[in-house]
Amino acid sequence: MNERKELMRQIKDEVLALKNSPLYKFRIENNYFPVIGEGSHFAKIMFIGEAPGRNEAQTGKPFCGAAGKILDELLESAHIKREEVYITNIIKDRPPQNRDPLPEEIKVYGPFLDRQINIIQPEIIATLGRYAMSYIMTKFNLASKLESIGKICGKVFEAETTYGSTKIIPLYHPCVAVYNPQTKDQLKSNFAIFKNL
Ligand code: URA
Repeated sequence: MNERKELMRQIKDEVLALKNSPLYKFRIENNYFPVIGEGSHFAKIMFIGEAPGRNEAQTGKPFCGAAGKILDELLESAHIKREEVYITNIIKDRPPQNRDPLPEEIKVYGPFLDRQINIIQPEIIATLGRYAMSYIMTKFNLASKLESIGKICGKVFEAETTYGSTKIIPLYHPCVAVYNPQTKDQLKSNFAIFKNL
């Protein structure tokens, strides 16, 4: 097993046993899986969403429901193969009623995401939605550049990491595009950026 795979497996084991998580009981009661992430451990692009929904918690796979269909469409429009990128979320367990993540949940799961970033060392981190945008931009000392997602979606920010420099691109959450064709168009034109990078 390669080192990255082994480090990811450790994360999975730790999340599985995460009894101190506010979402642990809900997972066990519903026979849900935690959703760690999916894709290449050597990906150049890492997509970070918010939290698993029901489909994701039932399968253990990120973005496999309605929002996932949109994400697949967007990836295809940018000629990116899903298996070439890495897709994950900040929160690894499904919150009840798909509600927004709570600060204490971000505190519990954030360090796992931090470790995943260090394992994969992506050249581009694309955040999906405002929670991932805010977490990642704050983590990489870009908090002063934070604005509403409508203002900064599709902008490319340079950040320094422990493994070198990376680009951070905030994007709308594909879920918003399920019912809003305008956001879908915006997302499509934002995804075109990947073709140039
Ligand atoms: N929404 C997310 O943010 N992540 C998923 O995995 C699915 C829906």
